[in-house]
Amino acid sequence: MRVFMTGHEGYIGSVMAPLFIQAGHEVIGLDTGYFAQCTLVPPALEIPTIRKDLRSVELSDLKGCDAVVHLAALSNDPIGNLNTQWTEEINFQGSVRLAELAKAAGIRRFLFSSSCIMYGMSATAVVTEESPLDPKTDYASSKVKAERAIAQLADKGFSPTFLRNGTVYGVSPRMRFDTVLNNLVGAAVTTGTVSLHGDGSPWRPVAHIEDISRAFLHVVEAPIDRVHNQAFNNGENGMNHQILELAHVVADTVPGAAVECLGSPDADQRTYKTDFSKFARTFPDFRFRWNIRTGAQELYQAFKGVGLTPDDFTSQRFTRLKWLRHLLETGRLDASLRWQVEGARV
Ligand SMILES: NC(=O)c1ccc[n+]([C@@H]2O[C@H](COP(=O)([O-])OP(=O)(O)OC[C@H]3O[C@@H](n4cnc5c(N)ncnc54)[C@H](O)[C@@H]3O)[C@@H](O)[C@H]2O)c1
Repeated sequence: MRVFMTGHEGYIGSVMAPLFIQAGHEVIGLDTGYFAQCTLVPPALEIPTIRKDLRSVELSDLKGCDAVVHLAALSNDPIGNLNTQWTEEINFQGSVRLAELAKAAGIRRFLFSSSCIMYGMSATAVVTEESPLDPKTDYASSKVKAERAIAQLADKGFSPTFLRNGTVYGVSPRMRFDTVLNNLVGAAVTTGTVSLHGDGSPWRPVAHIEDISRAFLHVVEAPIDRVHNQAFNNGENGMNHQILELAHVVADTVPGAAVECLGSPDADQRTYKTDFSKFARTFPDFRFRWNIRTGAQELYQAFKGVGLTPDDFTSQRFTRLKWLRHLLETGRLDASLRWQVEGARV
């Protein structure tokens, strides 16, 4: 297939795009390149790239493609708080417009990278795809609105699929340290302490970046009647963990590291457990290969391998919100989060 992949120069896309190519597909990437330079290690492959803002995508960009994998988004909750309008324009309106264009271009398969965060903070129950959505942030709302609007476009010629990911961990050329397990291992390696802001009690579904990418690949290749206009929690049961458990796994993995619970009252208290049975029922042949122990070990070895320093770990290049703020403050991005001048991303 010729796959049109947006956001292929982000944390997940930098792993997913090469994986699709290794599986025999052609990938055309579209990315404005906010994080193009934010590499921890060089990207594995050069991907043919349309250097464009999602908000400016045109029908002609999609010509000749067989599937769309839509990853591009402002992807951190606090970014939604930075400017609600950007999240609305990019994550919601931009996604719906891309789906409309894909449909107009006759592209049937459309995979939307969604998030389990849309279930809100329900501590009481395990959430399935049928559970009520209760978005608590602009980011989460943008995913709910985009899913609903794109689902309306489904017909016999257009089959969107919504893959709701947990929090992703694992090594990527364009690393993020603002997601939980990556952050804990990075802290342990560079400071010797796994420091938890709160008491570590909240639950999170967490999934490895390669498993998530392989799952997207599996879905893009699946019989269309199985995935037509369906939402899936992307993972398997057993991927829900309390933050404290993650911290202890990290302390076991990184020699000499100790867990510290600060118990701060303003800590992020979002907590949810996700049911992944639908994914297992629908794709019985698919296996998720990673768990938090193998994932923490991989991160530890990679950070040791590159000689990760405290400066790297706290660098604005690996925290999405900090880097966008930096691009705004240095005048490279304008007030609409577009590049001031072409080439400013370098
Ligand atoms: N990382 C996670 O834990 C996680 C969890 C659930 C869902 N997701 C979703 O998966 C997708 C990818 O996440 P990620 O962690 O790789 O994020 P990321 O921030 O690392 O990558 C997003 C990419 O999209 C691009 N992009 C953003 N706005 C754009 C625009 N207006 N025009 C063109 N390109 C634009 C960025 O340049 C970047 O390369 C996102 O949709 C995110 O919401 C991620």
